[in-house]
Amino acid sequence: MPDGIDRAAELLAAAHHGLALTGAGVSAESGIPTFRGEGGLWTKYDPVKVSSIDSFLADPAAYWTVAKQRGSVALKAKPNPGHLALAALESAGHIVAVVTQNTDGLHRDAGSRHVVELHGSGRTVECLSCGRREPRSEVQARLDVEMPPRCLSCGGTVLKPTVVLFGEPMPQAATEEAFALASRSDVMLVVGTSLVVFPAADVPLVAVRSGARMIVVNAEPTPFDRLAEVVIHGRSGEVLPELVRLIDE
Ligand code: APR
Repeated sequence: MPDGIDRAAELLAAAHHGLALTGAGVSAESGIPTFRGEGGLWTKYDPVKVSSIDSFLADPAAYWTVAKQRGSVALKAKPNPGHLALAALESAGHIVAVVTQNTDGLHRDAGSRHVVELHGSGRTVECLSCGRREPRSEVQARLDVEMPPRCLSCGGTVLKPTVVLFGEPMPQAATEEAFALASRSDVMLVVGTSLVVFPAADVPLVAVRSGARMIVVNAEPTPFDRLAEVVIHGRSGEVLPELVRLIDE
């Protein structure tokens, strides 16, 4: 068993306001590539060129070409044991919510009820001309014959998933809720994130400053490891179910 997992189980078992922050790493074992680290999306594309609001508005087709590839995987992805373990931790009261940077919707699919999506949801697309919304899966089905996709109501060609692109403001309600949860948390479980994108990476900092004990579960070291009481370098799909098993023992 990884070092520290017993202590992590003790902390979560005793938590009254546990909080989880997740990133792309928690969905890696569902087949969705991460952004950074080995094989990450940003090792193949420049995020500013393909995933900023300016580049999107200048050339929606460039964005949708990448989004089509990522969507063909993300829209079929299923929750992995790491997502299911986080839902189990919430059901047992060891965490009160999951704050996620992910837009794949897999936490809710896994049964997590209180999910705060800091970077929006990739499951819906909005027409920036007329505001019409439609499921991302329906737009995905048109991308083979329509690039960039057109709005079915007004014919506009600026359809955008309801996700936060670089250069866009964060969703205010979700951001306020995430920091309110962090400031009340007593245990902060950070899973599968490189913790290099702000303000999301501020969530665990606010938690620690408010007295929370931090647990980091990540495949690689993070800049916040030194602030954590427990650091477990491993795959969340293996470590989190083991955590749940130890707590239930
Ligand atoms: N289990 C645990 N951790 C993993 C696993 C795994 N199976 N696989 C990868 N990781 C780790 C990687 O080592 C990396 O540190 O998950 C982390 C993923 O980091 P990023 O790819 O940077 O993802 P994230 O931190 O969520 O990125 C934040 O950046 O591009 C923006 O909007 C995008 O929400 C994203 C934000």
